[in-house]
Amino acid sequence: MAENILDRFKEKIEEIKEINSDKKVRVGIIGTGWIAEAHVANYLKCPDVEIVAAADLIPGKAEKFCKANGIEGVRLYPDHKSMIDAEQLDAVSVCTYNKTHAECTIYALEHGVNVLLEKPMCVTLEEAVAICKAEKASGKILSIGFQPRFDENMKMLRRVVQSGELGRIYYIQTGGGRRRGIPTPYGTSFIEERTAGLGALGDIGCYSLDMVLNAIGYPKPLSVSGYTSCYFGKDPNYFEGHPEYADVFSVDDFAAAFIRLDGDIVLDFRISWAMNLDTPGDTIILGTKGGLRIPSTECWNGSIGGPLTIYKTVAGEEVELQIPKKDDDTDNFYKKIRLFVDAVKENGKAPVPSSQIIYNQAIIDGIAKSARLGREITIEIPEI
Ligand SMILES: NC(=O)c1ccc[n+]([C@@H]2O[C@H](COP(=O)([O-])OP(=O)(O)OC[C@H]3O[C@@H](n4cnc5c(N)ncnc54)[C@H](O)[C@@H]3O)[C@@H](O)[C@H]2O)c1
Repeated sequence: MAENILDRFKEKIEEIKEINSDKKVRVGIIGTGWIAEAHVANYLKCPDVEIVAAADLIPGKAEKFCKANGIEGVRLYPDHKSMIDAEQLDAVSVCTYNKTHAECTIYALEHGVNVLLEKPMCVTLEEAVAICKAEKASGKILSIGFQPRFDENMKMLRRVVQSGELGRIYYIQTGGGRRRGIPTPYGTSFIEERTAGLGALGDIGCYSLDMVLNAIGYPKPLSVSGYTSCYFGKDPNYFEGHPEYADVFSVDDFAAAFIRLDGDIVLDFRISWAMNLDTPGDTIILGTKGGLRIPSTECWNGSIGGPLTIYKTVAGEEVELQIPKKDDDTDNFYKKIRLFVDAVKENGKAPVPSSQIIYNQAIIDGIAKSARLGREITIEIPEI
Protein backbone atom coordinates (compact mmCIF):
# COMPACT_ATOMS: atom_id res chain seq x y z
CA MET A 1 0.00 0.00 0.00
CA ALA A 2 1.30 3.44 -0.89
CA GLU A 3 2.57 5.45 2.02
CA ASN A 4 0.28 8.19 3.18
CA ILE A 5 2.59 11.14 3.69
CA LEU A 6 0.45 12.44 6.53
CA ASP A 7 1.36 9.29 8.52
CA ARG A 8 4.84 10.68 8.87
CA PHE A 9 3.55 13.44 11.07
CA LYS A 10 1.82 11.18 13.60
CA GLU A 11 4.83 10.29 15.69
CA LYS A 12 4.77 12.12 19.01
CA ILE A 13 7.91 12.82 20.88
CA GLU A 14 7.37 12.42 24.61
CA GLU A 15 9.73 14.68 26.45
CA ILE A 16 8.35 15.02 29.96
CA LYS A 17 9.86 12.38 32.25
CA GLU A 18 8.72 10.94 35.55
CA ILE A 19 9.62 13.33 38.36
CA ASN A 20 11.91 12.25 41.17
CA SER A 21 11.49 14.75 44.03
CA ASP A 22 14.22 13.34 46.32
CA LYS A 23 16.53 16.18 45.49
CA LYS A 24 15.13 19.70 45.12
CA VAL A 25 16.45 22.12 42.54
CA ARG A 26 17.03 25.49 44.28
CA VAL A 27 15.85 28.29 42.04
CA GLY A 28 16.23 32.07 42.24
CA ILE A 29 14.13 34.52 40.24
CA ILE A 30 15.91 37.57 38.79
CA GLY A 31 13.41 40.29 37.91
CA THR A 32 9.95 40.04 39.49
CA GLY A 33 7.83 41.67 36.78
CA TRP A 34 5.14 40.37 34.45
CA ILE A 35 6.76 37.24 33.00
CA ALA A 36 8.24 36.12 36.32
CA GLU A 37 4.65 35.26 37.34
CA ALA A 38 4.51 32.58 34.65
CA HIS A 39 7.90 31.19 35.72
CA VAL A 40 6.83 30.96 39.36
CA ALA A 41 3.41 29.46 38.52
CA ASN A 42 5.11 26.69 36.56
CA TYR A 43 7.97 26.07 39.00
CA LEU A 44 5.24 25.59 41.61
CA LYS A 45 3.91 22.72 39.50
CA CYS A 46 7.29 20.96 39.88
CA PRO A 47 7.51 19.02 43.16
CA ASP A 48 11.29 18.85 42.78
CA VAL A 49 11.79 22.62 42.70
CA GLU A 50 12.13 25.02 45.59
CA ILE A 51 12.04 28.76 44.88
CA VAL A 52 14.45 30.04 47.51
CA ALA A 53 15.25 33.61 46.43
CA ALA A 54 14.08 36.53 44.32
CA ALA A 55 15.67 39.81 43.30
CA ASP A 56 14.46 43.05 41.79
CA LEU A 57 16.05 46.46 41.36
CA ILE A 58 12.85 48.24 42.39
CA PRO A 59 12.64 48.42 46.21
CA GLY A 60 9.74 46.41 47.61
CA LYS A 61 8.79 44.86 44.26
CA ALA A 62 10.15 41.36 44.93
CA GLU A 63 8.41 41.19 48.30
CA LYS A 64 5.07 42.27 46.84
CA PHE A 65 5.54 39.80 44.00
CA CYS A 66 6.22 36.86 46.32
CA LYS A 67 3.15 37.63 48.40
CA ALA A 68 0.94 37.99 45.32
CA ASN A 69 2.22 34.73 43.85
CA GLY A 70 1.91 32.64 46.99
CA ILE A 71 5.61 31.94 47.58
CA GLU A 72 6.63 32.21 51.19
CA GLY A 73 9.97 32.12 52.97
CA VAL A 74 11.77 33.38 49.87
CA ARG A 75 14.88 35.46 50.60
CA LEU A 76 14.80 38.81 48.83
CA TYR A 77 17.62 40.81 47.23
CA PRO A 78 18.03 44.23 45.58
CA ASP A 79 19.78 42.86 42.46
CA HIS A 80 21.03 39.71 40.76
CA LYS A 81 24.59 39.95 42.07
CA SER A 82 23.72 40.08 45.77
CA MET A 83 21.34 37.14 45.33
CA ILE A 84 23.83 34.95 43.47
CA ASP A 85 26.64 35.85 45.90
CA ALA A 86 24.59 35.03 49.00
CA GLU A 87 22.71 31.92 47.85
CA GLN A 88 23.70 28.39 46.87
CA LEU A 89 21.51 28.26 43.78
CA ASP A 90 21.19 25.46 41.24
CA ALA A 91 19.39 27.66 38.74
CA VAL A 92 18.00 31.10 38.04
CA SER A 93 15.27 32.38 35.78
CA VAL A 94 16.39 35.63 34.19
CA CYS A 95 13.11 37.52 33.87
CA THR A 96 14.53 41.01 33.57
CA TYR A 97 13.95 43.43 30.71
CA ASN A 98 16.13 42.74 27.66
CA LYS A 99 18.81 45.29 28.45
CA THR A 100 20.01 43.38 31.57
CA HIS A 101 19.67 39.84 30.15
CA ALA A 102 23.36 39.59 29.33
CA GLU A 103 24.81 40.86 32.62
CA CYS A 104 22.50 38.71 34.77
CA THR A 105 23.07 35.57 32.68
CA ILE A 106 26.84 35.97 32.50
CA TYR A 107 27.11 36.62 36.24
CA ALA A 108 25.04 33.52 37.03
CA LEU A 109 27.02 31.28 34.67
CA GLU A 110 30.33 32.60 36.00
CA HIS A 111 29.16 31.62 39.48
CA GLY A 112 28.25 28.08 38.42
CA VAL A 113 24.48 28.61 38.23
CA ASN A 114 22.33 27.17 35.42
CA VAL A 115 20.18 29.73 33.59
CA LEU A 116 16.75 29.83 32.01
CA LEU A 117 16.90 33.12 30.11
CA GLU A 118 13.79 34.86 28.79
CA LYS A 119 13.53 35.75 25.12
CA PRO A 120 14.92 37.60 23.25
CA MET A 121 18.35 36.25 24.18
CA CYS A 122 19.67 39.82 24.69
CA VAL A 123 19.95 43.02 22.67
CA THR A 124 23.15 42.84 20.60
CA LEU A 125 25.20 40.12 18.93
CA GLU A 126 28.19 41.17 21.04
CA GLU A 127 26.20 40.40 24.19
CA ALA A 128 25.09 37.05 22.74
CA VAL A 129 28.70 36.11 22.03
CA ALA A 130 29.72 37.04 25.59
CA ILE A 131 26.83 34.95 26.97
CA CYS A 132 27.85 31.93 24.87
CA LYS A 133 31.47 32.26 25.97
CA ALA A 134 30.42 32.37 29.64
CA GLU A 135 28.21 29.34 29.09
CA LYS A 136 31.04 27.40 27.46
CA ALA A 137 33.50 28.27 30.23
CA SER A 138 31.00 27.36 32.95
CA GLY A 139 29.87 23.99 31.61
CA LYS A 140 26.40 24.92 32.94
CA ILE A 141 23.07 24.78 31.15
CA LEU A 142 21.66 27.83 29.44
CA SER A 143 18.24 27.53 27.84
CA ILE A 144 16.45 30.41 26.11
CA GLY A 145 12.75 30.94 26.85
CA PHE A 146 11.08 30.17 23.52
CA GLN A 147 8.01 28.28 24.76
CA PRO A 148 6.26 28.20 21.32
CA ARG A 149 8.90 25.61 20.40
CA PHE A 150 7.07 23.09 22.59
CA ASP A 151 3.73 23.51 20.85
CA GLU A 152 2.67 20.38 18.95
CA ASN A 153 1.83 22.43 15.83
CA MET A 154 5.25 24.02 15.89
CA LYS A 155 6.86 20.58 16.16
CA MET A 156 4.70 19.43 13.25
CA LEU A 157 5.93 22.33 11.16
CA ARG A 158 9.51 21.30 11.82
CA ARG A 159 8.75 17.66 11.02
CA VAL A 160 7.11 18.63 7.71
CA VAL A 161 10.23 20.53 6.63
CA GLN A 162 12.65 17.92 7.99
CA SER A 163 10.73 15.06 6.29
CA GLY A 164 11.99 16.34 2.93
CA GLU A 165 8.46 16.60 1.48
CA LEU A 166 9.11 20.22 0.52
CA GLY A 167 12.43 19.39 -1.16
CA ARG A 168 15.19 21.94 -1.01
CA ILE A 169 14.08 25.10 0.79
CA TYR A 170 15.02 28.32 -1.01
CA TYR A 171 12.63 31.08 0.10
CA ILE A 172 10.87 31.96 3.35
CA GLN A 173 8.51 34.77 4.16
CA THR A 174 7.89 35.24 7.84
CA GLY A 175 6.92 37.72 10.47
CA GLY A 176 3.76 38.78 12.11
CA GLY A 177 2.01 41.78 13.37
CA ARG A 178 -0.57 43.49 15.42
CA ARG A 179 -2.81 46.28 14.21
CA ARG A 180 -2.57 47.98 17.60
CA GLY A 181 -0.44 46.06 20.09
CA ILE A 182 2.42 48.04 21.58
CA PRO A 183 2.94 46.31 24.94
CA THR A 184 2.66 48.63 27.91
CA PRO A 185 1.12 46.19 30.41
CA TYR A 186 2.75 47.56 33.53
CA GLY A 187 4.46 50.69 32.31
CA THR A 188 7.15 51.48 29.82
CA SER A 189 9.86 48.79 30.17
CA PHE A 190 9.07 47.40 26.66
CA ILE A 191 9.16 50.77 24.92
CA GLU A 192 12.20 52.48 26.40
CA GLU A 193 15.59 51.91 24.85
CA ARG A 194 17.29 51.96 28.27
CA THR A 195 15.32 48.88 29.42
CA ALA A 196 14.13 47.08 26.25
CA GLY A 197 16.94 47.93 23.83
CA LEU A 198 14.75 46.63 21.00
CA GLY A 199 11.05 47.03 20.16
CA ALA A 200 8.84 44.74 18.08
CA LEU A 201 11.98 43.45 16.37
CA GLY A 202 13.27 41.83 19.55
CA ASP A 203 10.03 41.23 21.41
CA ILE A 204 8.02 39.33 18.80
CA GLY A 205 10.42 39.27 15.84
CA CYS A 206 12.50 36.69 17.69
CA TYR A 207 9.48 34.31 17.69
CA SER A 208 8.95 34.58 13.93
CA LEU A 209 12.61 33.93 13.29
CA ASP A 210 12.70 30.97 15.66
CA MET A 211 9.62 29.42 14.06
CA VAL A 212 11.18 29.17 10.61
CA LEU A 213 14.86 28.83 11.51
CA ASN A 214 14.13 25.96 13.87
CA ALA A 215 12.07 24.27 11.16
CA ILE A 216 14.87 24.46 8.59
CA GLY A 217 17.69 23.60 11.03
CA TYR A 218 19.05 27.03 11.94
CA PRO A 219 21.38 27.78 9.01
CA LYS A 220 23.94 30.50 9.55
CA PRO A 221 22.82 34.02 8.61
CA LEU A 222 25.17 35.70 6.14
CA SER A 223 23.90 39.20 5.37
CA VAL A 224 20.95 41.45 6.04
CA SER A 225 19.33 44.60 4.74
CA GLY A 226 17.07 45.92 7.49
CA TYR A 227 14.62 48.72 8.12
CA THR A 228 12.96 49.91 11.33
CA SER A 229 10.45 52.65 12.13
CA CYS A 230 8.45 53.98 15.09
CA TYR A 231 5.59 56.06 13.67
CA PHE A 232 2.96 54.71 16.09
CA GLY A 233 5.04 54.69 19.26
CA LYS A 234 6.04 58.31 18.78
CA ASP A 235 2.41 59.40 18.31
CA PRO A 236 0.94 60.73 21.63
CA ASN A 237 -2.58 59.91 20.37
CA TYR A 238 -1.68 56.22 20.24
CA PHE A 239 -1.49 55.71 24.00
CA GLU A 240 -4.99 56.40 25.32
CA GLY A 241 -4.70 58.02 28.72
CA HIS A 242 -0.88 57.98 28.56
CA PRO A 243 0.30 60.54 25.97
CA GLU A 244 3.57 60.79 27.93
CA TYR A 245 4.48 57.25 26.75
CA ALA A 246 5.21 58.73 23.31
CA ASP A 247 7.91 60.94 24.85
CA VAL A 248 9.82 57.96 26.24
CA PHE A 249 9.15 55.63 23.28
CA SER A 250 12.65 55.02 21.95
CA VAL A 251 12.59 51.62 20.17
CA ASP A 252 11.14 50.31 16.89
CA ASP A 253 7.45 49.44 16.44
CA PHE A 254 7.98 48.00 12.94
CA ALA A 255 10.87 46.22 11.26
CA ALA A 256 11.43 44.62 7.87
CA ALA A 257 14.42 42.85 6.40
CA PHE A 258 15.82 40.75 3.60
CA ILE A 259 18.21 38.15 5.01
CA ARG A 260 20.53 35.74 3.22
CA LEU A 261 21.13 32.40 4.93
CA ASP A 262 23.74 29.73 4.37
CA GLY A 263 22.56 27.22 1.73
CA ASP A 264 21.32 29.91 -0.70
CA ILE A 265 18.11 30.52 1.25
CA VAL A 266 16.52 33.95 1.49
CA LEU A 267 14.32 35.12 4.30
CA ASP A 268 11.85 37.95 3.83
CA PHE A 269 10.86 39.27 7.25
CA ARG A 270 8.51 41.87 8.68
CA ILE A 271 7.21 42.43 12.19
CA SER A 272 4.98 45.04 13.76
CA TRP A 273 3.56 46.08 17.12
CA ALA A 274 1.28 48.52 15.30
CA MET A 275 0.33 49.12 11.66
CA ASN A 276 -2.62 50.06 9.47
CA LEU A 277 -3.31 46.46 8.46
CA ASP A 278 -4.71 43.31 10.08
CA THR A 279 -1.68 41.10 9.40
CA PRO A 280 1.49 41.50 7.36
CA GLY A 281 0.79 38.05 5.90
CA ASP A 282 1.14 34.35 6.60
CA THR A 283 4.46 32.63 6.93
CA ILE A 284 5.38 30.72 3.78
CA ILE A 285 8.18 28.27 3.15
CA LEU A 286 8.96 27.48 -0.49
CA GLY A 287 10.80 24.31 -1.47
CA THR A 288 11.58 22.66 -4.79
CA LYS A 289 9.01 19.89 -4.20
CA GLY A 290 6.40 21.65 -2.13
CA GLY A 291 5.35 24.84 -0.41
CA LEU A 292 3.99 25.37 3.08
CA ARG A 293 1.64 28.05 4.37
CA ILE A 294 1.47 28.75 8.10
CA PRO A 295 -1.43 31.06 8.99
CA SER A 296 -0.59 34.10 11.06
CA THR A 297 -2.50 35.32 14.10
CA GLU A 298 -4.04 38.70 14.88
CA CYS A 299 -1.89 39.24 17.93
CA TRP A 300 1.42 37.75 16.95
CA ASN A 301 3.21 36.07 19.84
CA GLY A 302 4.68 33.01 18.24
CA SER A 303 1.65 30.77 17.97
CA ILE A 304 0.32 29.17 14.78
CA GLY A 305 -2.99 30.66 13.64
CA GLY A 306 -4.60 27.73 11.79
CA PRO A 307 -3.98 24.49 9.91
CA LEU A 308 -0.72 24.15 8.01
CA THR A 309 -1.25 23.72 4.27
CA ILE A 310 1.20 21.89 2.02
CA TYR A 311 1.05 22.67 -1.71
CA LYS A 312 2.42 19.94 -4.00
CA THR A 313 2.04 18.49 -7.46
CA VAL A 314 1.00 14.83 -7.29
CA ALA A 315 0.74 12.81 -10.54
CA GLY A 316 0.51 16.06 -12.46
CA GLU A 317 -2.25 17.46 -10.25
CA GLU A 318 -1.75 20.52 -8.10
CA VAL A 319 -2.99 19.46 -4.66
CA GLU A 320 -3.26 20.98 -1.22
CA LEU A 321 -2.88 18.91 1.94
CA GLN A 322 -4.18 20.42 5.10
CA ILE A 323 -2.79 19.31 8.45
CA PRO A 324 -5.45 19.98 11.08
CA LYS A 325 -4.34 22.25 13.90
CA LYS A 326 -3.76 20.26 17.07
CA ASP A 327 -5.26 21.43 20.30
CA ASP A 328 -2.21 21.09 22.43
CA ASP A 329 -3.44 20.14 25.89
CA THR A 330 -0.13 20.49 27.70
CA ASP A 331 0.96 23.99 28.56
CA ASN A 332 3.97 25.13 26.57
CA PHE A 333 5.17 27.34 29.39
CA TYR A 334 5.13 24.38 31.79
CA LYS A 335 7.16 22.37 29.27
CA LYS A 336 9.70 25.17 29.02
CA ILE A 337 10.19 25.13 32.80
CA ARG A 338 9.96 21.35 33.23
CA LEU A 339 12.45 20.52 30.49
CA PHE A 340 14.90 23.07 31.86
CA VAL A 341 14.61 21.57 35.36
CA ASP A 342 15.14 18.07 33.92
CA ALA A 343 18.24 19.26 32.07
CA VAL A 344 19.61 20.83 35.28
CA LYS A 345 19.00 17.65 37.28
CA GLU A 346 20.54 15.36 34.70
CA ASN A 347 23.23 17.76 33.54
CA GLY A 348 21.61 17.22 30.16
CA LYS A 349 21.21 19.37 27.08
CA ALA A 350 19.53 22.76 27.03
CA PRO A 351 15.99 22.41 25.59
CA VAL A 352 16.49 25.61 23.55
CA PRO A 353 20.24 25.93 23.07
CA SER A 354 22.16 29.18 22.71
CA SER A 355 24.09 27.63 19.79
CA GLN A 356 20.88 28.10 17.75
CA ILE A 357 19.54 31.28 19.29
CA ILE A 358 22.80 33.14 18.71
CA TYR A 359 21.83 33.08 15.00
CA ASN A 360 18.41 34.48 15.88
CA GLN A 361 20.13 37.26 17.82
CA ALA A 362 22.65 37.85 15.03
CA ILE A 363 19.78 38.50 12.61
CA ILE A 364 17.99 40.84 15.02
CA ASP A 365 21.21 42.71 15.71
CA GLY A 366 21.97 42.79 11.98
CA ILE A 367 18.55 44.28 11.18
CA ALA A 368 19.01 46.98 13.83
CA LYS A 369 22.53 47.84 12.66
CA SER A 370 21.65 47.77 8.96
CA ALA A 371 18.63 50.00 9.62
CA ARG A 372 20.86 52.52 11.42
CA LEU A 373 23.39 52.49 8.57
CA GLY A 374 20.77 52.48 5.80
CA ARG A 375 22.49 49.69 3.84
CA GLU A 376 23.02 45.93 3.70
CA ILE A 377 25.57 44.50 6.12
CA THR A 378 27.49 41.24 6.42
CA ILE A 379 26.79 39.21 9.55
CA GLU A 380 29.97 38.07 11.22
CA ILE A 381 29.74 35.77 14.21
CA PRO A 382 33.02 35.18 16.05
CA GLU A 383 34.06 31.67 17.13
CA ILE A 384 32.87 30.90 20.63
N1 LIG B 1 8.16 34.14 27.08
C1 LIG B 1 7.15 34.97 27.07
O1 LIG B 1 6.03 34.63 26.72
C2 LIG B 1 7.37 36.38 27.50
C3 LIG B 1 6.27 37.22 27.73
C4 LIG B 1 6.51 38.50 28.22
C5 LIG B 1 7.81 38.96 28.42
N2 LIG B 1 8.86 38.13 28.14
C6 LIG B 1 10.25 38.60 28.33
O2 LIG B 1 10.52 38.64 29.71
C7 LIG B 1 11.38 39.73 30.00
C8 LIG B 1 10.76 40.56 31.12
O3 LIG B 1 9.53 41.05 30.72
P1 LIG B 1 8.51 41.63 31.79
O4 LIG B 1 7.28 42.01 31.06
O5 LIG B 1 8.39 40.73 32.94
O6 LIG B 1 9.29 42.97 32.22
P2 LIG B 1 9.04 43.87 33.51
O7 LIG B 1 9.59 45.20 33.18
O8 LIG B 1 7.62 43.74 33.96
O9 LIG B 1 9.96 43.19 34.63
C9 LIG B 1 11.34 43.14 34.59
C10 LIG B 1 11.87 43.35 35.99
O10 LIG B 1 13.27 43.05 36.00
C11 LIG B 1 13.86 43.89 36.99
N3 LIG B 1 15.31 43.92 36.78
C12 LIG B 1 16.00 44.42 35.74
N4 LIG B 1 17.32 44.22 35.88
C13 LIG B 1 17.48 43.57 37.06
C14 LIG B 1 18.61 43.09 37.78
N5 LIG B 1 19.85 43.26 37.32
N6 LIG B 1 18.41 42.45 38.97
C15 LIG B 1 17.15 42.30 39.45
N7 LIG B 1 16.04 42.74 38.82
C16 LIG B 1 16.20 43.38 37.64
C17 LIG B 1 13.16 45.22 36.79
O11 LIG B 1 13.29 46.05 37.92
C18 LIG B 1 11.72 44.78 36.53
O12 LIG B 1 10.96 44.76 37.71
C19 LIG B 1 11.58 40.50 28.70
O13 LIG B 1 12.83 40.19 28.16
C20 LIG B 1 10.47 39.99 27.80
O14 LIG B 1 10.83 39.95 26.43
C21 LIG B 1 8.66 36.86 27.72
